[in-house]
Amino acid sequence: MKALIIHGPNLNMLGKREPEIYGTLSLNDINKRIRSTAAELGLKVSIVQSNSESEIIDAIQEGGYDVLIINPAAYTHTSIAIRDAISSAGVPAIEVHLSNIHKREEFRRKSFVAEVSTGQISGFGPESYILALIAAKKIISER
Ligand code: DQA
Repeated sequence: MKALIIHGPNLNMLGKREPEIYGTLSLNDINKRIRSTAAELGLKVSIVQSNSESEIIDAIQEGGYDVLIINPAAYTHTSIAIRDAISSAGVPAIEVHLSNIHKREEFRRKSFVAEVSTGQISGFGPESYILALIAAKKIISER
């Protein structure tokens, strides 16, 4: 059982970027937590970070995974192309955000990805990814 985790644009700057919103952990710290939780759950993971919309779409199209966990970052609110890639992938997707996108600026409330995802986990900081892994395990075990 394999999960593909995608971190979108600017998430490579975690720890330095607006720590009052996104926290002080680096992406590397978060990825370590993801890997250890995935191991406990018996999930294989492949982790990708990209600032580029086309690279994110290429990663989704590559296949070879049973569930997609994606934080599309700002592309959440703009990218019909990423939405379409998720929709075509034919595997369940879980949308993740560190911050609660519904509690912030109006433009963040719209998610193109929500429409093609099994569910959205938003607002729990790095724990959002951990909760997504637990949900992913449940979804694929029940398939
Ligand atoms: C984010 C929320 C987005 O609105 C924002 O553009 C991000 C990060 C989050 O994880 O809280 O870059 O996806």
